[in-house]
Amino acid sequence: MTKEEKRAEIARMKRVMDVFSDPEFTDCLNETSELEKDRVFCRHDLTHLKDTARLAYIFSLERNYGLDKDIVYTAALLHDCGRAKEYKTGVSHDIAGARIARRILERYDFSVSETEMIIAAIEGHRGNRKADCGEKAYRLAKVLYDADKLSRDCFLCKASKDCNWSDEKKNMNLF
Ligand SMILES: [Fe+2]
Ligand SMILES: [Fe+2]
Repeated sequence: MTKEEKRAEIARMKRVMDVFSDPEFTDCLNETSELEKDRVFCRHDLTHLKDTARLAYIFSLERNYGLDKDIVYTAALLHDCGRAKEYKTGVSHDIAGARIARRILERYDFSVSETEMIIAAIEGHRGNRKADCGEKAYRLAKVLYDADKLSRDCFLCKASKDCNWSDEKKNMNLF
């Protein structure tokens, strides 16, 4: 990648960095990390969010979905932001996360349709995808769901037999 291409990439991804630097997002990430420090199952840290983002974007490219990279990355970055809330209140993190994500997105330069697409993907990342949210939003939700699962190395996990994921959700492959 040339310097110019790198500069263009950084400019394109500015909104992702806005979300990443958002104080509420940082609080969610830190709080989740604290609450998961003794967790034996998968954690929902920045490594998981980045793995999910990269895989989701690869899936979008492979399937010719035509999704914008910054939208895919933003959805992936935010998809588990409701985790700490779930641990503290019992509200499912897809629902809690969608509420938090909406507040965060409204602080930055996202259009209404981009915001709704990202929210639908977060709400659907545990498998309850809405069929009526439009083709692009459906595609985003699909790549996020697939990436979220395939980001996990279930075939190496010592806690796999106690995990509540179904066999269908567990990733047992290197690819
Ligand atoms: Fe999740
Ligand atoms: Fe996740």
